[in-house]
Amino acid sequence: MGRTRGFEPPTSGTTSPRSNQLSYVRHDFIGYFFIIFGYIKIMQVSKRLFELETETAFSILAKANMLQSEGKDIVNLGIGQPDFPTPSNILEAAKKAIIDGHHGYTPSNGILPLREAVSENIYNNYQVSINPDNILITPGGKPVIFFSALIFGDENKEIIYPDPGFPIYRSMIKYSGAKPVPLNLDEEDNFEINIDKLESLISKKTSLIIINNPNNPTGSFMKEDKIFKLVSLLEKYPNIAILSDEIYSKIIFENLEMPSLLKYESIRNRLIILEGWSKTYCMTGWRLGWSVWPKKIIDYANKLCVNDHSCPNSISQYAGIEALKGSQEEVKKIIDEFERRKDFIYKELNKLGKITCFKPGGAFYAFPNISKFNMSGEEFSSIALNEHGVAIVPGSSFGDSANDFVRLSYANSIENIEKAVYRLSKI
Ligand SMILES: Cc1ncc(COP(=O)(O)O)c(C=O)c1O
Repeated sequence: MGRTRGFEPPTSGTTSPRSNQLSYVRHDFIGYFFIIFGYIKIMQVSKRLFELETETAFSILAKANMLQSEGKDIVNLGIGQPDFPTPSNILEAAKKAIIDGHHGYTPSNGILPLREAVSENIYNNYQVSINPDNILITPGGKPVIFFSALIFGDENKEIIYPDPGFPIYRSMIKYSGAKPVPLNLDEEDNFEINIDKLESLISKKTSLIIINNPNNPTGSFMKEDKIFKLVSLLEKYPNIAILSDEIYSKIIFENLEMPSLLKYESIRNRLIILEGWSKTYCMTGWRLGWSVWPKKIIDYANKLCVNDHSCPNSISQYAGIEALKGSQEEVKKIIDEFERRKDFIYKELNKLGKITCFKPGGAFYAFPNISKFNMSGEEFSSIALNEHGVAIVPGSSFGDSANDFVRLSYANSIENIEKAVYRLSKI
């Protein structure tokens, strides 16, 4: 393994340090020891840094790119970003913003016309009026996880998060000093929240509950009836804040509607909604997200924005207005294409016999069970990439409950998905 790790601290065993290697395959414990020891001894960095984890999907992308640059034929079903370009009307709006001279800082919470456009969008989708003052624009949706953890986390607090779930939840909770309490999402529950199980995890120390619907990595989607039951439970605990990560709210199949938690007034005074442009509008690299915050805490979140990044990217914000207010035709086509791919991958994976795959209801992930191979998801993913040229992410990257699973992102063409499934059939 190369030694060029730079100044990034090592991470826990479930994730990998951000190097260009697939380090979940080989852990260099002696190297870790010397790096940790060296940091503490020489630079006295904060101990909390060692709580930070990372996203294995990024190191797999780096490894897949490296193999590709060496001339290997790799099908990449690893990274969670749409494979379509940003719609052209949005590109034009960004060009105009550059020409029009929007080159300076903006308000830290985002420009008013954009927050108004978000408010209008929320009203059109959910018939709920949200004051633009309660909306925060950030560089992507991720900072909302960080800020929520910083605001509600502390040494004597507990934060409940989905497992399997987006790895940044646990990382940020641990960094905040709070105890991460995993809420296991089980295959037999279609990876939906089991309400009784959630209730059993709530304690006097619980300060925040994180919910993600549709879910990354499982692709599960909780419909209105389940959300209604969830809200009934949350109503019983008025001192607990809720972070509802709804970043995949527009990528839902079978013409179902998004049951946003925003629709429930009874919990709105302690509800944070994480949303954004990254997935719906194929704008992952533009770094633009929106969130809704209760009046009581938005000032803290905004202060974190000023301290962290001053303001979101100005050009992206003007592009974001066009995304919300302009034609939705391209987005509709993209979502239809995701649905076509979902049907294909779900059917093809289940045909393999040894793999069982639950039917995704949203997002662009399939999360098959590979336990019949008598190997862990990590081993399976490693063989898939190194011997068969298919980049996928082991379930363990998303929590301790998913060792028997792997995540396939179907943000790739049907031809490539077909090629990938064929190659996996050779394992
Ligand atoms: C569930 C979930 N939440 C939040 C994010 C962060 O999105 P962004 O790229 O806008 O920061 C992602 C990105 O993969 C995600 O999957």
